[in-house]
Amino acid sequence: MNKIVVIGLGYVGLPLARLFATKYPVVGFDINKKRVSELMSGIDSTLEIDEVILKEIISSCHCGVNPQFHQKKGLFCSNNLDDIRNSNIYIITVPTPIDEYNQPDLTPLINASAFVGKVLNKGDYIIYESTVYPGCTEEDCIPILEKESGLTLGKDFKVGYSPERINPGDKVNTLSNTKKIVSGCDDEALNKISQLYESIIAAGIHRATNIKVAEAAKIIENTQRDINIALMNELSIIFSRIGLNTYDVIEAAGTKWNFLKYYPGLVGGHCIGVDPYYLLHKAKQKGYHAQLIGAGRFINDSMGTYIAKQTVKKLLAANKHLLQSRVLILGFTFKENVADIRNSKVAYIVKELQSYRVKTNVIDPYVDMENVMHEYQIEVIKEPAGKYDAIIVTVAHKEYREYGEEYFLNFSTKNAILIDVKGLYKNQIKQLSYWSL
Ligand SMILES: NC(=O)c1ccc[n+]([C@@H]2O[C@H](COP(=O)([O-])OP(=O)(O)OC[C@H]3O[C@@H](n4cnc5c(N)ncnc54)[C@H](O)[C@@H]3O)[C@@H](O)[C@H]2O)c1
Repeated sequence: MNKIVVIGLGYVGLPLARLFATKYPVVGFDINKKRVSELMSGIDSTLEIDEVILKEIISSCHCGVNPQFHQKKGLFCSNNLDDIRNSNIYIITVPTPIDEYNQPDLTPLINASAFVGKVLNKGDYIIYESTVYPGCTEEDCIPILEKESGLTLGKDFKVGYSPERINPGDKVNTLSNTKKIVSGCDDEALNKISQLYESIIAAGIHRATNIKVAEAAKIIENTQRDINIALMNELSIIFSRIGLNTYDVIEAAGTKWNFLKYYPGLVGGHCIGVDPYYLLHKAKQKGYHAQLIGAGRFINDSMGTYIAKQTVKKLLAANKHLLQSRVLILGFTFKENVADIRNSKVAYIVKELQSYRVKTNVIDPYVDMENVMHEYQIEVIKEPAGKYDAIIVTVAHKEYREYGEEYFLNFSTKNAILIDVKGLYKNQIKQLSYWSL
């Protein structure tokens, strides 16, 4: 019988644990006590799993306080290592961030591997889902599993890698209806892991040749996206100088069958803006300085500062005194309709404007205000307060799409500027000054 443990119950781990729990007994393990207790009472702060669904899947296994692995399908969440001892499949979905020097920070992955190594038994399977550079599972993780357990890969336990492709907030492309890449350390592992995922992924699976191929496949999905967005961002800088609206240009170019419609904007979050650094790190280790990938990262990481500088220029052009100017920023999350503020590049806009001593207010209906203060030392307020000389709409939240010029005029000073990063109000603004990428 498959008894599954999912280690790391975040945006990736929770939906995965929930889906597996519809078929198998699952224990979700997380070091964050608050997260575990919230989940056990049906609350998912990432907004990925609905309260009713979560409560139902948690109650379905009828677990006691310490189930020693329940026999029925369903989900039990815990931060106690004893609760994951009697499992036979461990799936690791912990974060893979970068440090302040944009280098991979494998601490969560190493810690999670050590946890699993401590409870590993002969015949167990470990599957990594966290995004990593090619080689990480075999070179960095397996040695820890072997050291902590005293067991040997292949003979005593097996390992696989299956990258996660979910898109938080996306109710169309879900875990179940997106094909899943799977890989294993040998043929037996590949077969077993394939069967496991086939049992929950309606779209089916793709068997990768080996673990490194699966790791590389995931990282290039995000690197490709990063570079394409960087190209659009660079074009938007050129077009701004020419006086063209990039969204107009893309709309026109997009009428050709082979033009790929990527859009300019801020690239934040835990994936697109992070994963290419993992590949850059590996390339460097192999003696290759990957210039194109690095340039993409540089351009995308610079966009927050660029947008802030454009705002300052527009304020000056409108004869506004910088020290007395007030700017309202709508949107702080790294993308639309999610609460996720990780690696938000809106913080760069705020900090850059503040460096010119321009006063800023930030609002965002999705964020946890305390969280933003804790992570970025930036205050988020509930609603606009007073009149503003510039308004920057950074994220295409669905609520913002409903706004029109009348809404912004309510809290705009004379000659105020609307900076429309996502091109939401293109051709709709008549009274305010308008600028977009
Ligand atoms: N979020 C996405 O859209 C997405 C999509 C595809 C792939 N990924 C990748 O999946 C991985 C997880 O991302 P996420 O967004 O779910 O992260 P997350 O930050 O939302 O969640 C990670 C969870 O792991 C827990 N954790 C950290 N260290 C732990 C440990 N040692 N043991 C147990 N739990 C631990 C944290 O408390 C947290 O609850 C990353 O590698 C990410 O790049 C994310």
